[in-house]
Amino acid sequence: MAVVAVIKESRDGETRVAAVPETVKKLIGAGFSVMFEAGAGAAATYLDADYQAAGATVAPTARAALSAADVVLKVRAPSVDEAVALKSGALLVALLDPHRDKTALAALAARGVTAFAMEFVPRITRAQAMDALSSQANLAGYRAVIEAAWAFGKALPMMMTAAGTIAPARVFVMGVGVAGLQAIATARRLGAVVTATDVRPATREQVESLGAKFLAVEDEESVSAQTAGGYAREMSAGYQARQAELVSAHIAKQDIVITTALIPGRPAPRLVSAAQVASMRAGSVILDLAVEQGGNVEDVRLGEVAMTPNGVKILGFPNLPGRVAADASALYARNLMAFAGLLLDEAGALAPDYEDEILKAALVVRGGAVVHPALAS
Ligand code: NAI
Repeated sequence: MAVVAVIKESRDGETRVAAVPETVKKLIGAGFSVMFEAGAGAAATYLDADYQAAGATVAPTARAALSAADVVLKVRAPSVDEAVALKSGALLVALLDPHRDKTALAALAARGVTAFAMEFVPRITRAQAMDALSSQANLAGYRAVIEAAWAFGKALPMMMTAAGTIAPARVFVMGVGVAGLQAIATARRLGAVVTATDVRPATREQVESLGAKFLAVEDEESVSAQTAGGYAREMSAGYQARQAELVSAHIAKQDIVITTALIPGRPAPRLVSAAQVASMRAGSVILDLAVEQGGNVEDVRLGEVAMTPNGVKILGFPNLPGRVAADASALYARNLMAFAGLLLDEAGALAPDYEDEILKAALVVRGGAVVHPALAS
């Protein structure tokens, strides 16, 4: 029987875990045996006793679990030490950050591991249950609004009280993918007046259907801003200048700005300049969800809350899903469970079909080399 290992994530500040008791039970039902490192789920509030009750065996250390594993399910890429502990020929599935974390890919290749990046699971109907980018971005968008609201010294909804009326907060969401849409929905639920922008014209209708107002440069270039894969292209300098001009007047009047704009495989586009931040009122809050990809906001600092001279807070928190670790883990663990099902044949034996379009798209390391075409250097 193929052994699946789950260990405590070792990256700084990573609170999520790659399996929860519910998915352990299902993995066992599918034909795996599951070994987990003691305490693996503690930071996400999942207890060892619950994993054991679900049928998993406890390993005292990460090394013990990794060295016994045929399949390793992880949140983040393994450290070099963890990679060395893997069996040669083991399968690894994780959010590998493959465009940027070349060290991890090299360590996995050197070890003879076969690695799949959850980021590369194609967004096709059959793979919807495995779409970890969406499951995590959705929670990130939610949490971004909660964090910004917490840092904001005013209320979000309009309140009419005997002592006077409180105006609703103005929230501006820049980038309307999965995270942005959830940020809009969350800010609306809290009673804010919400506007949003994106380069993809298809987002207008989505924004309006959530009760927010759309604001964007819509020209010949934006017509082709969306790639066949549904992602945004990097826009020309001319478009970016027109976008900045449109946004400048608007941003000065906002209380909370949430930025989420990403371009796959590229640094995050710069959407908010220092001059635009300087135009905002004291007490306003900006949260940059793209901070780990270089940031959408000029003065954002990874892992920090920056206070500008004019009293604007810029939140640069990494790993927003990790701030909702119990739910983020549960959803991600289900994504992984669905993916792991592709690694077994009908008799429950480990036999990945490398011709399967989902496995093919997600495969990044095999046979001692980085094999994904998007990573060819
Ligand atoms: P993402 O995380 O790659 O980017 C976030 C957003 O930033 C996108 O909406 C993008 O258009 C926007 N953006 C990029 N550059 C910008 C700029 N300069 N100014 C303003 N906005 C900018 O996007 P995500 O959330 O991964 O979604 C990408 C696409 O995938 C969308 O079309 C979404 O509807 C689609 N999708 C499809 C799924 C499916 O069919 N199963 C599941 C999830 C998403």
